[in-house]
Amino acid sequence: MIKIKNSVLTSVFAVATVFSQPLLAADIAAGKAKSVTCSACHGSNGISTIPMYPNLAGQKEQYLVLQIKAFRDGERKNMVMAPMVASLSDTDIANLAAYYASLDPSGK
Ligand code: HEC
Repeated sequence: MIKIKNSVLTSVFAVATVFSQPLLAADIAAGKAKSVTCSACHGSNGISTIPMYPNLAGQKEQYLVLQIKAFRDGERKNMVMAPMVASLSDTDIANLAAYYASLDPSGK
């Protein structure tokens, strides 16, 4: 019983570590530099001017990481987004997510 508990705890910590590491390594300035192509649709301040395209400013960082990876890896299917993120590395994605999460959701 104790063994099972320990292994459950170990996997919880392992998952927590996996999710927290890219956040620690994220570089907002590098994310901003990478966001030039994204800004055509998601706005230069992360607020989209096109009704069909979502705002990214102030979105949760981990959610952004998960969604961008899902587009890249084909788990979330969208014909517009897939080619935009196809060549991004995990580091690029972490940086982009940190950048968009850092922006003010009111667009200021
Ligand atoms: C040509 C327009 C276009 C470009 C360029 C573009 N996107 Fe998107 N993006 C979209 C559309 C459209 C959606 C909505 C997709 C859907 O309906 O699933 C979207 C969705 C997203 C989402 C999901 C938002 C949510 O709330 O779930 C993220 C994150 C995202 N884009 C990030 C990026 C990043 C990062 C870049 C640059 C590397 C980028 N996008 C470039 C059009 C674009």
